[in-house]
Parts: sequence; C-alpha cells; structure tokens
Amino acid sequence: MPRTNRRTFLKTTTAAAVAGASALPSLSRIASGQAANRNSELGIGVIGVGGRGMGLAQGFQSLQGANVIAVADPDEKRSGDAGKKFEAASYTDLRKLLDDPNVDAVAIATCNHWHCLAAIWAMEAGKDVYVEKPLSHTQWEGRQVVNAARKYNRIVQLGTQQRSDPMQAEIKKFLHEDQALGKILYAQANRLGPRATIGKRKTPLPIPENINYDLWLGPAQDEKLFRNNFHYDWHWDWNTGSGEMGNWGVHVLDDVRNVAYQDAVSTPQRILACGGRVAWNDAGDSPNVHYAYFDTGSFPTLIALSNLRNKAAGKKGGWTTQAGRPVVGPGTGYIIACEGGYYMGQRGSGKAVDLKGKEIRKFKGGDMNALHKKNFIDAVASRDRDSLNAEIEIGHDSTGWCNLANVAFRAGGAFDGEDARSIAPESEVWNLLLEEMRGHLKPHGLTIHGRNIKMSPILHHNPKTELFEGDHSHGANHFLKRQYRKGYEVPEIG
Ligand SMILES: NC(=O)c1ccc[n+]([C@@H]2O[C@H](COP(=O)([O-])OP(=O)(O)OC[C@H]3O[C@@H](n4cnc5c(N)ncnc54)[C@H](O)[C@@H]3O)[C@@H](O)[C@H]2O)c1
Repeated sequence: MPRTNRRTFLKTTTAAAVAGASALPSLSRIASGQAANRNSELGIGVIGVGGRGMGLAQGFQSLQGANVIAVADPDEKRSGDAGKKFEAASYTDLRKLLDDPNVDAVAIATCNHWHCLAAIWAMEAGKDVYVEKPLSHTQWEGRQVVNAARKYNRIVQLGTQQRSDPMQAEIKKFLHEDQALGKILYAQANRLGPRATIGKRKTPLPIPENINYDLWLGPAQDEKLFRNNFHYDWHWDWNTGSGEMGNWGVHVLDDVRNVAYQDAVSTPQRILACGGRVAWNDAGDSPNVHYAYFDTGSFPTLIALSNLRNKAAGKKGGWTTQAGRPVVGPGTGYIIACEGGYYMGQRGSGKAVDLKGKEIRKFKGGDMNALHKKNFIDAVASRDRDSLNAEIEIGHDSTGWCNLANVAFRAGGAFDGEDARSIAPESEVWNLLLEEMRGHLKPHGLTIHGRNIKMSPILHHNPKTELFEGDHSHGANHFLKRQYRKGYEVPEIG
C-alpha cells in the first residue's frame, strides 16, 4: 500500500520548497482540490525527463492510483519544463527528490550509466523502483541492485514492457504446453534498424549551460565529448551507454528469454561475438554491426544487430526462409525455429508458420506500456514481488546477455576468417549467422575481414558466479565492473 502517513498536498509543496524545488505545483491545481483528491494515490518521482522519462511520467499520470509529484534532471530546462507540465516539484539533484517523503516510488529514465546508482539510492531512501532498460551498465552493478531489492524489501521492476503484453502467455502456451511446432532448434533475435552517424567534432563539445555536468556524469568518467549532440547519443559511448546491444538488444533478447526459454536459463555459458563500428567515421565507440552467439546448454541462440540500412533484405523487409527453415527473422523481433515450423515475434504481434510456409496462427498484442506500469503500481500496493512481470532479477539476467555480448566485443581481437568458421564447429547456426553478416555488409562495400571488424574468442561464463572462467577470462572479467568517479560509487551490497 502507499504509505498511509503521506502528508497532505500542501505539506508536499512546503517540503519541496524547503528542499529547494525550482517549480512547484500550480495554485490552480491546489485551488481546484485536484491535489487533495489524489492524496491516497501513489506519489511517483520521475528521475531523468528526456524522451523516455516524459513518456513514463505521462503514462503514470494517466493511471488511476498514481500521481507524478516530483521530477529530477540535471538539465534545468528539462526538469523545469517537466515540473510545469506535470504540476510537480522539480529538482536538478535526484537526491533532493529522494528526500521527499511524499515520493513513494521512482521511475528512472536517466542515461544507462546512472540506472544502478539511482535505483540503489532510491531503495536506501525507502522508495520502490521502476527502472528503465538496460538495468545496468556492467553486470556487477546490476547484481548490487538485485541485492538491494532483497535487503531493503523493495518492489523493483525493469522497463521491459513487452513482458506485460498478454499475448506472451498465449504464445508460450502454444509453443511449450501445446507443443504446436515441436522441439525448438534455435532462436534468433534481430534489430536491423538504421541510425545516423553522430558526427566527430574537431574540438570538444561545449557542455550546455543549463546542465549540471557533475550530476549528469555521476558514476561516469569525465572525458571530453566529440559527438555533435549532448543528449541521447551518450548511448554510443562506452563511458555512458551500452550501444545498440544494451538498447534494442535488451528488448529482443528479453523476449527470447521469456518466450523461448520461459526464463529457465539465467545467462549463457559461452558467448562469441563479432562486429565493428563500420561505414561511419564518428565519435561513437560501440559497434553499429554486432552479431553474437550464446550457448546456454540448450538450443543455440543468436542475435543480429545493425544500424546500417538492411540493403540485403530487399524490398520485402527483413526475413527470408532457406530450405524451409527461417534464417533471418524480422527486422526487429525474433524467430524461434522449431522442427515443425517457426514462430516469428515482434513488439505487439506474432505469427506461427508451418514447414510448408503456411501461416497457422496469428497473435495480437495489447497495451503493454500501460499494463507494465499498472503491474508495477499494483505490486507496490500488494507488496507481492512475485506478481511483477519484469521483477528485477529477471531484468538483471536479460540485461546480462547484452552486457556479456558487449564484453565479448570489447575483449575481442582482429577477425580471423578461419578461426571464425572453426571456432564453434558444433554450431552450424553460428556459421549461418556469419554468412548473414557477410551478406549484410557486402552491399555497403564492406567485408567481414575489414580492419574495423573484431571477433571475440569463445568466452566461458559461469552464470552462478557471474564471472568468466578459463582461457581469455582475465581480459573479459575486466569489463564486468567499471571504474566509478569519486563520490558516485555503486556500493557493494551483500
Ligand atoms: N522501455 C523502452 O521502450 C525505452 C524507450 C526509450 C528509452 N528507454 C530508456 O530510457 C533511458 C532514457 O532514454 P532517453 O531516450 O530518454 O534518453 P535522453 O538522453 O533523452 O534522456 C536521459 C535524461 O536523463 C537525464 N539525466 C542524466 N543524469 C541524470 C541524473 N543524475 N538525474 C536525473 N536525470 C539525469 C539527462 O539529462 C536526460 O534528460 C535509457 O536508459 C533508455 O534505454 C527505454
């Protein structure tokens, strides 16, 4: 239940003013009595009000039982505008928002490098947490969030909203309970979605005056920026982001974990990745082409990510079949290849096709965004973490696949054609995936042997210890925890 000792709305505004809030709820709202009527509702604080944070605020505000009462963003313009729009207290420093006793729960939509520290600080302050994907910037810090959720007994949900789409249960019944397509042979997730280069300045980007840069940086290192835009393109800088793998990769791999594995596998035992930042000469360092293979001890699982135009797919889009077996899948989504056909899933829809190519079942999704937030506020009310659709340990594991694929890329070396073919001789699908990558690069005038393409050795990962083991583990383990900037260290939580 929302805490029963919540103060009245007028007391909220007073507390916010004392704490140094820069925009207070409007008098008209107080006069209309709207605020007083909402006192029994869950007080939500939104941390990070860029594109996604504004969407979350709007979504929570529209839900019965929730009320956005505070926002925080070190970009004063963004926090001020959001405060006005939602008639909420606004702060540049998230710690001020966390001091507000009327905030029951927070929604975190900062850049990725802040997710874990903000979530842990919020839990230490007694708040429940809805945190955007990817949970973590490194796997070690994600584990600390899971530990904190248990230690402080908090309700914590990851923003992987497809988990709340009611169609997922129907698809799982169809594939697993009814065995409608037989045994699973392999699964492949895809995000073949073009993006533009982020530019490469000759001189460092001046930090906009409206930004408190120390707060924006938080746990990240203070490095000069050479991209053109300050906001959003932090995704493609390892210091603050996790590349496309930690962006769309989380959604599509989380779908595979949910639908194909029914969460029976936490993280993979072996990982292999290949890719590069190709075709562009810009300030980003995460790959714009990234293909990876995951060995879970069960069926092989693959991911293909690219931000180059999918010229190879032709006009019809992103999927084809080869010898009756799907090999590519949708541009954004996943395919589960089975003995009796395949299931192809996308956000909000899916279909099953038999071996003759005949569509045998269609699935239609629901309003996952609203349902995911409602699932969170219902769990906050009931205090039942098992009722969450994306409980934080599930979110940690799904994020783990992406973090590990990023480690494999970062720990990788020059691509070796022979090595590539022989590296996973038992996995025909990995070699198929490499062929797919070749086919994707070719129309761009690129080859897999290009100097910008890297490939990892096979990395052995222990899902229990969450560490790499054996050959090449030293270099790979180095990427499992970051160097934190002083004053913004993620604490180890036992
Ligand atoms: N679930 C989804 O479908 C979905 C969709 C889009 C984005 N996201 C996630 O949401 C997050 C935000 O993405 P975005 O597109 O809005 O990026 P963005 O760059 O537009 O916004 C991030 C905001 O966080 C703010 N911020 C940075 N440090 C902060 C701090 N210490 N306290 C408060 N705010 C801080 C920035 O100033 C900025 O306004 C990302 O992690 C992204 O992966 C999820």
